[in-house]
Amino acid sequence: MRVSLAIIACWLGLVFGAQPPHTDKQGYANTGACLVCHEEMGKAFLKTRHGSLENNVSRGWKGQSCESCHGPGAKHGEAAEAKFILNHAKATPRVADSSCLSCHRNQATHVGRVSGSHARMQVACVSCHSVHHEGPGKSAAVINALCSNCHASAWAAFQRSHAHALPQGVMSCVDCHNPHGTSRSSALRSTARTTNAEPGCFNCHADKRGPFAFEHAPVRLEGCAACHEPHGSANPRMLNRAEVLNLCLECHANAPGGRAATLGTVATGFHDLRLPAYRNCTSCHAKIHGSHINRDFLR
Ligand code: HEC
Ligand code: HEC
Ligand code: HEC
Ligand code: HEC
Ligand code: HEC
Ligand code: HEC
Ligand code: HEC
Ligand code: HEC
Ligand code: HEC
Ligand code: HEC
Repeated sequence: MRVSLAIIACWLGLVFGAQPPHTDKQGYANTGACLVCHEEMGKAFLKTRHGSLENNVSRGWKGQSCESCHGPGAKHGEAAEAKFILNHAKATPRVADSSCLSCHRNQATHVGRVSGSHARMQVACVSCHSVHHEGPGKSAAVINALCSNCHASAWAAFQRSHAHALPQGVMSCVDCHNPHGTSRSSALRSTARTTNAEPGCFNCHADKRGPFAFEHAPVRLEGCAACHEPHGSANPRMLNRAEVLNLCLECHANAPGGRAATLGTVATGFHDLRLPAYRNCTSCHAKIHGSHINRDFLR
């Protein structure tokens, strides 16, 4: 039995590794040896994008792609016991991730990771990526389902009456979030104009980007979430208040000093809030996200 296995292993080694089982790395077997016992899985694997590790010399793992992730497997191959081989799904996130990061370091997927809360909370690469099967891929519906598994309340917000079209599968969480983390809060793709490193709201709402000659301070300083519930809201325009009026007055009624201070309290000039005509603020202040020509955002 042992002899015939060795022969098959050697033959497969020639086919897949184009060389006999080799040992230039201590304790390593080769892919052919793994396929003796893991044939189906191995062949399927070689068709994935990681399969390129098997044949691409420049990656440094030609003929030994299995072990590029699973580590040296000679001992496991002989004993056929689980304890001698790394299984990322059973390992601690730290160990599993360091295996992935041995190649995926200093890539876009890794850069924000140090401060990202997925890494901090030990959400391992393999809780989102399945190397031997289709990964999360690029399908919006698949990604949304993946994320919602752990973030049920975020998903619930998208079921409200005014929301981005995630339930319809038109958009996904990663249109706004970087699952690999960024240095920004809430792992958001940046909405700040100071960094264009990552796309965010402006990707789709370019007209709100500016720069405007007359900025509305909170748009720039606090970001979109100062006025909107970006996941979804019961309120029109996904605003975080049911009436626009109340949203504005939250900041403008009590402002200490400045022209805005009189609003709502003293009916100076025309801002008489008892008159219905003045209660719909954005009917006049139409360019509420910023204006190129009017400091009061009237046009
Ligand atoms: C002689 C047969 C044999 C060979 C050769 C072999 N394996 Fe295995 N492997 C097994 C068996 C049997 C199990 C299941 C062990 C168990 O469940 O206790 C296993 C399990 C595994 C597991 C899962 C371990 C776990 O903790 O669940 C991995 C990963 C693995 N093998 C990878 C490899 C790799 C990589 C190679 C090539 C270096 C390889 N195997 C070569 C027989 C083999
Ligand atoms: C890019 C990294 C990577 C490479 C390369 C890789 N694997 Fe895996 N393997 C994993 C991960 C991660 C798991 C844990 C389960 C999962 O995520 O699918 C795993 C799980 C396994 C298991 C356990 C399966 C189970 O269901 O318990 C076996 C067996 C295995 N791999 C064999 C192989 C063989 C054989 C090769 C080479 C043909 C290989 N792997 C190449 C990452 C890799
Ligand atoms: C030995 C180096 C190496 C290791 C270790 C490695 N990868 Fe990769 N990974 C690659 C290469 C090479 C590609 C293909 C890049 C390409 O095709 O442009 C890739 C591509 C990917 C992709 C994108 C391909 C796709 O299917 O969408 C994902 C996701 C990925 N790796 C996740 C992982 C995870 C998770 C681990 C750890 C379990 C891991 N990798 C370990 C080298 C590696
Ligand atoms: C919270 C889930 C999650 C975690 C954790 C995660 N990823 Fe991803 N990853 C994704 C999703 C979703 C995509 C697809 C992103 C897209 O389409 O923009 C992706 C894409 C990738 C890609 C392909 C990038 C490209 O540009 O094609 C690589 C490589 C990758 N991840 C590696 C990793 C590695 C390595 C780890 C661990 C250090 C990891 N990921 C952790 C969800 C995750
Ligand atoms: C395996 C479970 C799991 C999966 C899958 C998952 N997450 Fe998370 N996520 C977490 C945990 C745990 C935290 C940290 C929670 C906390 O700090 O309250 C977190 C935090 C976050 C945060 C908040 C970041 C912050 O700094 O406050 C965002 C945003 C996020 N995840 C988005 C996503 C997206 C997008 C996906 C899908 C690509 C995803 N998550 C998939 C478990 C998961
Ligand atoms: C339209 C852009 C957008 C989409 C799409 C989006 N998010 Fe968010 N998400 C945000 C913004 C902006 C914040 C920060 C809100 C704040 O600061 O109050 C946030 C915050 C979060 C948080 C941390 C705060 C909290 O509510 O717990 C989590 C977790 C989160 N999102 C998960 C998800 C998940 C899961 C999906 C996909 C189902 C998703 N997000 C889709 C923009 C988005
Ligand atoms: C992937 C593209 C995309 C991204 C990224 C995106 N949006 Fe949207 N957003 C849309 C689409 C599409 C609509 C629907 C437009 C329509 O109905 O005319 C929309 C509508 C809106 C609306 C108006 C809703 C209504 O009821 O009229 C608001 C507010 C909004 N988005 C805010 C945001 C914020 C804030 C962010 C970033 C956190 C963001 N969006 C990121 C595509 C996007
Ligand atoms: C100071 C509060 C405030 C901030 C901050 C804010 N918005 Fe708005 N936004 C509004 C109001 C109020 C409306 C509704 C206007 C109306 O009644 O027609 C609106 C409407 C929208 C709409 C739908 C109508 C349109 O003009 O397209 C989109 C999309 C939108 N906002 C995106 C954004 C984005 C993206 C950001 C961040 C760059 C942002 N908003 C920041 C107050 C704000
Ligand atoms: C999160 C707080 C906040 C909200 C909400 C808000 N604003 Fe402002 N707004 C400000 C700040 C801060 C300024 C800058 C005031 C200054 O420079 O004196 C400003 C400036 C203005 C100005 C220009 C004032 C000037 O002195 O030139 C107008 C007009 C204005 N806001 C209207 C609105 C309207 C209408 C709404 C509701 C749709 C609204 N704002 C919502 C904080 C807010
Ligand atoms: C009928 C049109 C109209 C409506 C409705 C309206 N405004 Fe104005 N608002 C103006 C005009 C015009 C100015 C410029 C006045 C000036 O420069 O003397 C102005 C100025 C402002 C200013 C700058 C500070 C000041 O006192 O000059 C703020 C802040 C403001 N409006 C907030 C609001 C808010 C909040 C609402 C809703 C409660 C609102 N406006 C409704 C027309 C309107």
